[in-house]
Amino acid sequence: MMELIDKINKLKKERNAIILAHTYQVGDIQDIADFVGDSYGLSKKAADSDADVIVFCGVHFMAETASIIAEDKTVLLPEIDAGCPMADMIDADKLRKMKEVDSDAIVVSYINSTAEVKAETDVICTSSNVLKIVGNLKTNKIIFAPDKYMGSYVAAHYPEKEIILADGYCHVHVTILPEDILSLKEAHPSAVVLTHPECQGEVVKLSDHILSTSQMLDFARESDAQEFIIATENGILYLLNKQNPQKKFYHASKYAVCPNMKKTTMEKLYWALEDMKYKIKVDKDIAVKAKRAIDNMFFYTEK
Ligand code: 13P
Ligand code: SF4
Repeated sequence: MMELIDKINKLKKERNAIILAHTYQVGDIQDIADFVGDSYGLSKKAADSDADVIVFCGVHFMAETASIIAEDKTVLLPEIDAGCPMADMIDADKLRKMKEVDSDAIVVSYINSTAEVKAETDVICTSSNVLKIVGNLKTNKIIFAPDKYMGSYVAAHYPEKEIILADGYCHVHVTILPEDILSLKEAHPSAVVLTHPECQGEVVKLSDHILSTSQMLDFARESDAQEFIIATENGILYLLNKQNPQKKFYHASKYAVCPNMKKTTMEKLYWALEDMKYKIKVDKDIAVKAKRAIDNMFFYTEK
């Protein structure tokens, strides 16, 4: 392994590359990455980086978003088949039809969406800024795509707003059930429940805080609590344990594992840098429109 790590670091230097990794990646990838974070943090890093090459250890929509934001850079996805099924649950046609029915609505799409869907969107959001963005919008009629659970969470928070939901969901987060939380709470009564907004409403209701993955890391580090129940994909346990060796973390469900996030290996990361593959590029017309929606996200988040 040491040899592989050295080879990756050497190639990274030669290519003037930066390695970005999502919090659900395997531990080795998180360790070698220049930055590990949630979708929003990773997008910011892609926007601010002065590297020539961005190697994105995550899933396809994340690399696609980076390539839209950092149009002059080469963006590589080490495993071309690492997709996000939720992102593919709505396409541009389906979204256009929703827009025809509710033509007076603003479209807010989760960053877990394709470039074509982003191009049909007014404002992109992530799990860390969704409430702020929707709260900052003047209009009270919103089409939310594709995650119906995140959309329902937003709707519950803003009862004065009409949120029209698409019907996507994350097949990983739905494996976390209310009974999982209830039995863990019973076994660990002082544990704080941290939940991702992709979880089902019944799980959200039983939780103490609804957070993005980076927000969970910040919360766990800063909190005086010693025990946490973590309702999201289990890859995040790696950093939670590493950063807080004295605290205890219980994953809500052993089934909450994203198979696509686990497809990136150290070997594939090395081959990506060696062969400069797989280059992720978005059609110019689509990219220009999608970028507008992503720039609106940065605007409404920092407002
Ligand atoms: P975060 O932005 O909170 O890391 O979530 C991304 C994701 O894909 C969750 O399933
Ligand atoms: Fe997509 Fe769910 Fe995997 Fe996140 S955890 S990348 S939403 S499938």
